Parts: sequence; C-alpha cells; structure tokens
Amino acid sequence: MKFFVDTANLEDIREAAGMGVLDGVTTNPSLVKAEGNVDFHERVLEICQTVDGDVSAEVTATEFDGMMEEAHTLAQIHDNVVVKIPLIKDGIKALRALDEEGIKTNCTLCFSPTQALLAAKAGADYISPFIGRIDDISSDGMGLIEEIVQIYDNYGFETEILAASIRHPTHVKRAALAGADVATMPFSVLTNLLEHPLTDRGLERFLADWEDYKEARDETP
Ligand code: E4P
Repeated sequence: MKFFVDTANLEDIREAAGMGVLDGVTTNPSLVKAEGNVDFHERVLEICQTVDGDVSAEVTATEFDGMMEEAHTLAQIHDNVVVKIPLIKDGIKALRALDEEGIKTNCTLCFSPTQALLAAKAGADYISPFIGRIDDISSDGMGLIEEIVQIYDNYGFETEILAASIRHPTHVKRAALAGADVATMPFSVLTNLLEHPLTDRGLERFLADWEDYKEARDETP
C-alpha cells in the first residue's frame, strides 16, 4: 500500500518524507487555504521538490474548457503533478481527454461505486473515495472501498484506489485489508500509526534492563 499525506503544509511533508515511507501528497483547495497567503503554483512546485512521488493538485473550474486549461498549467509545473478532477459530468470528459494526452489524473469527491466505475472507464489514474465524510453522515465509508475493489477486480481496471478523507489509523488498517492501493492521510494520522502503549512500555523496560545489565557487568570483578 502506498502512503500519501493529505496536506499542503511543507513542514509536515518534509517530516513525512524524512520518515522514508512517503509515496506522494494530495492537496485540495481547502488544504491550500489552510496555508494562508501562499502562491498555489509555487507551493505545488515546492511540494514536488520535497517528495519523490505523485502530487495531486486540484482544478477549480467546473466546465470542460476551464478544467483542461487549469490541468495543462498544473501539469507543466512538474512531472510528478497529478491533476485532481471532480467527479462531475465535465470532469468525466476531462478525465478522458487528459488520459489521451498522457496527463495523470486523480478523480476526487467519489461517494459511490458507480461514480468510481465511471471514473475508471474515463481513464482516471486514481479514484479518491472519501471514506471519512461518508462515515460522518452515518454511512459506511469502508463498504464503498470494498465495493470499488471488487468492481475494479471484476473488470481489470488499472485505476488505483486512493482511500481519502482518512481520520484515524483504523481507517488505514481497514483500507489496507480491503485492498486499497493508496491511503492519503493527515500527517497526524501517519504518526499515529506508530503508536502503541505496549511498544512504549516494552521499550522502557528493555532500556531499564539494559542499564541494570551494564551496571551489573561493571561491578563484576
Ligand atoms: C483527498 O484527496 C482529500 O484531499 C481529502 O482526503 C479530504 O479529506 P477531508 O474529508 O478530511 O477534508
């Protein structure tokens, strides 16, 4: 499973990249807004220079021509840019056209299996089901991942399933069990994957015993 961080924050991206387990980054307009007064295109370039992997940057146009224009501009920023396209009618047209031009795409805002099927047929490189937002409305986000995995397997689609809107480590675990290709998560969730009280307690014990051992050896005549 590939790990992406879902942020436009360079410090978080640097830290995640430093862990050596980062495969890419996803951004969206809300995450860019959270960074305050930054130039979007410059920030996308900086992210691409920080992480060796796919970096999703989203278009904000909602009609075909505008999406294509933004997609071309974004794709020129760096070879690793993946253009994020919303799952609407003109978005499906744009996915097909960009696929024909060889520009990588991530189809975003997916909330149903049939939307995912359409995106795959249109040639999307990634599909982003938003599992947390589905759970937020008391529905079953992980069920959606499972259904998309089955549908894509049935027909041999190569579109990668990018579990998005991840809120906690259990989302990552269940997405991995379901066979999602990628999990994109906030940096805090990535670090939370490490956490276990028995690991901390066990390490504390090993280190204390090691000190005792060294002390006992020093005292041995
Ligand atoms: C995916 O690419 C989106 O940027 C993201 O995962 C949305 O997550 P949210 O529901 O926490 O905003």
